[in-house]
Amino acid sequence: MINIKNFRKTFGSKLVHKDVSFYVREGECLGLVGGSGVGKSVILRSLIGLEKPDSGEIEIDGIQVHNLTEEEMVPLRQKVAYVFQGGALFDSMTVFENMAYPLREHFKLSDDEIQKKITDTLDELGLAGNEQNLPSQLSGGMQKRLGLARALMMNPKVILYDEPTAGLDPYNTKKIQDHILKLKKKGVTSILVTHDMPTALAVCDKMVYLLNGVVTSSVLTKDLYSNPNAEIMKFIEGDVA
Ligand SMILES: Nc1ncnc2c1ncn2[C@@H]1O[C@H](COP(=O)(O)OP(=O)(O)O)[C@@H](O)[C@H]1O
Ligand SMILES: [Mg+2]
Repeated sequence: MINIKNFRKTFGSKLVHKDVSFYVREGECLGLVGGSGVGKSVILRSLIGLEKPDSGEIEIDGIQVHNLTEEEMVPLRQKVAYVFQGGALFDSMTVFENMAYPLREHFKLSDDEIQKKITDTLDELGLAGNEQNLPSQLSGGMQKRLGLARALMMNPKVILYDEPTAGLDPYNTKKIQDHILKLKKKGVTSILVTHDMPTALAVCDKMVYLLNGVVTSSVLTKDLYSNPNAEIMKFIEGDVA
C-alpha cells in the first residue's frame, strides 16, 4: 500500500535523509521510530505531498506521490489522513465545525448526514456532547482524540499518526491504542511515528528504526525480543538518544 524507495531529502546544506526505503502492506501498521530530529515527521509530510524529496520514489495505493502536481494531491489527501503532532485543530471553530469542515470540503452530504456522522464518530471516541465546545475547552487527551476523530471523517484508507500519544496519561494513551487497533481491524493501513514504545509494541506489526538518514533496523514486532542485537533494541532500552 505504501512504498518508499531511496528517499533523499536535504534542507539547505543539511542532509536529513540519505537513502530511506521501506514498505507497508495493506492493513499493516508500521512503527517509524528514532530519536528527535531524525526526520520522521518529514517522511510523513512527504507521503501526503507537503514536502518533496530531492530524489527517490513514494507510492501510495498505486499513486506516484513524488510526481503529483498540487491539484492531483486532492484525491491523495482524501485517501490518506495525517493525524498531526499538535492536532491541527481550528481554535476558533467549535468541535462540530472542526469535524464538519473536511466533510463539506470533500463530500456532498446533507446536513442530517453530516450531523449523524459527527455524532457517531464523537461517540465512538468518547467525545459525545462536546459538539459546541471549542478545542481549548477540552483536555489534551480529548484534543488528540478529536484530531483522530476529524481524520476519520474522510474514511481514510491510510492513516499517518505523528506521535499520537505524546504527553498523554495512561488512560488516554490506552484509548488511542484501542482506536488504532480498531481501525487496523477494519483494514486501515497506517504508519505510527512515536517515542512511546509500549504503544508501538501494542499496535505495530513491524518497525523501522531511522538513524543518520538511513533505516538501520527493520524488524517484525513479534521477533523483536528474539533479536536483541538489533539497533532498535538499544533505542527501546534507552541506550541511544
Ligand atoms: N521546513 C524545514 N526547513 C528546514 N529544516 C527542516 C524543515 N523541516 C524539518 N527540518 C529539519 O529536518 C530534520 C528532521 O525533522 P523532523 O522530521 O521534524 O524530525 P522528527 O520528526 O524525527 O523529530 C530536523 O533537523 C529539522 O530541523
Ligand atoms: Mg516529529
